[in-house]
Amino acid sequence: MVRPKPTVGDTSWFVRDRFGLFIHWGLYALPARHEWVKHVEQIPDEQYDVYFRHFDPDLYDPRLWAEAAAGAGMKYFVVTTKHHDGFCLWDSQLTDYKAPNTPCGKDLIRPMVEAFRERGLRVGFYHSVIDWHHPDFVVDNLHSMRGRPDREALNATRDQTRYAAYLHGQVRELLTGYGKIDVLFYDFSYPPEKGRNDWNSLELLKMTRELQPGIIVNDRLDLQDVEGGWDIRTPEQFMPREWVQVDGQPVVWETCQTFSGSWGYHRDEASWKSVEQLVQMLIGVVSRGGNLLLNVGPTGRGEFDDRALERLRGMGEWMKRHSRSIYGCTQAPDGIPCPQDCRLTYNPETNRLYVHIFAWPFVQLHIDGLAGKVAYAQLLNDASEVKMGEVPEHQASMAGPSPDTLTLHLPVRKPDVVVPVVELFLK
Ligand code: GLC
Repeated sequence: MVRPKPTVGDTSWFVRDRFGLFIHWGLYALPARHEWVKHVEQIPDEQYDVYFRHFDPDLYDPRLWAEAAAGAGMKYFVVTTKHHDGFCLWDSQLTDYKAPNTPCGKDLIRPMVEAFRERGLRVGFYHSVIDWHHPDFVVDNLHSMRGRPDREALNATRDQTRYAAYLHGQVRELLTGYGKIDVLFYDFSYPPEKGRNDWNSLELLKMTRELQPGIIVNDRLDLQDVEGGWDIRTPEQFMPREWVQVDGQPVVWETCQTFSGSWGYHRDEASWKSVEQLVQMLIGVVSRGGNLLLNVGPTGRGEFDDRALERLRGMGEWMKRHSRSIYGCTQAPDGIPCPQDCRLTYNPETNRLYVHIFAWPFVQLHIDGLAGKVAYAQLLNDASEVKMGEVPEHQASMAGPSPDTLTLHLPVRKPDVVVPVVELFLK
């Protein structure tokens, strides 16, 4: 069994729960063409301000969001309290650039936290350390004002240390005003331009852990080389081939993924992943010992759009019958080879192995090394027995399995689920 490197934050629940919802919500929901729109189009503050003056999510009901997430089988959520454009979703006392000052007129974080907690989901905050609105944030090559001819002059009055104090103050508000926070997802460092000194990362991390003992902190404060400087690795829109390692040691990891490419609501993007791809993604991640944080970008009216809801429902439909192969599960023990077109997960507490079949074979599925080691096998979707046994004698010479190969006898027709799973009760 692979065991990841121990963490300072409490990851014991995290590696059991496996599946969370990411929410990217802010002013960029209105232009609806990527949350980096201010950067990409180099929109000046005065012009971007039109979204601030029109931000009015009148259909916002976080109970519906929480219901959709819980229905999909998600166990925690992480929401953008502030993204790179600097707009704050909560009622920060340190800025006027916040939801309560838009037509929406209220703190959007508090009711969200309450609604998700009520559904039993754990609470995570994403917080951008980057800020393209704050007057002290030094204009660099990522900044929306990077192209201004007077950039040097602008920077003459900017004081990154003062910005860092603002950043710390806001994080303090978030970690003292909303009860227990389980995850803090900082985003992001890009040394040598901006890194640990620009955020005062060591102090920020210390404060984070002091205010919320046990909180899980991600790896984007530019403290990768510091012992205890992070708890989880966070590959983004990327599927690692195997359990993520750092210095040769497996670590707790979570990949964050989008439905269609951008994180904020994007009206015209056509690259939406199918339910099948998403379910396979979740399985693939758990089979390598990781978590999946899957993102929704709510609209400017305050809703999850139909494309997102359809996919969450599809995943929930699968999870309803197959979550046993996800929760509490991890990579299969060494020495069990994965059969063709399959992914394995394993629950060490129940000693059950889950065979996820991505391409339905014709009747026989061979698993090397498991002969005599399985007490019972069933399809997970309907608990129907899967017979195990030898290949009939007159075919054995052609089948070629070795004596230690377990052969499962599957129905000819693929069960009517996105990804069928065989549950093996190991002896
Ligand atoms: C990034 C992006 C971004 C998104 C995030 C999610 O680094 O800047 O827009 O919020 O990662 O991981």
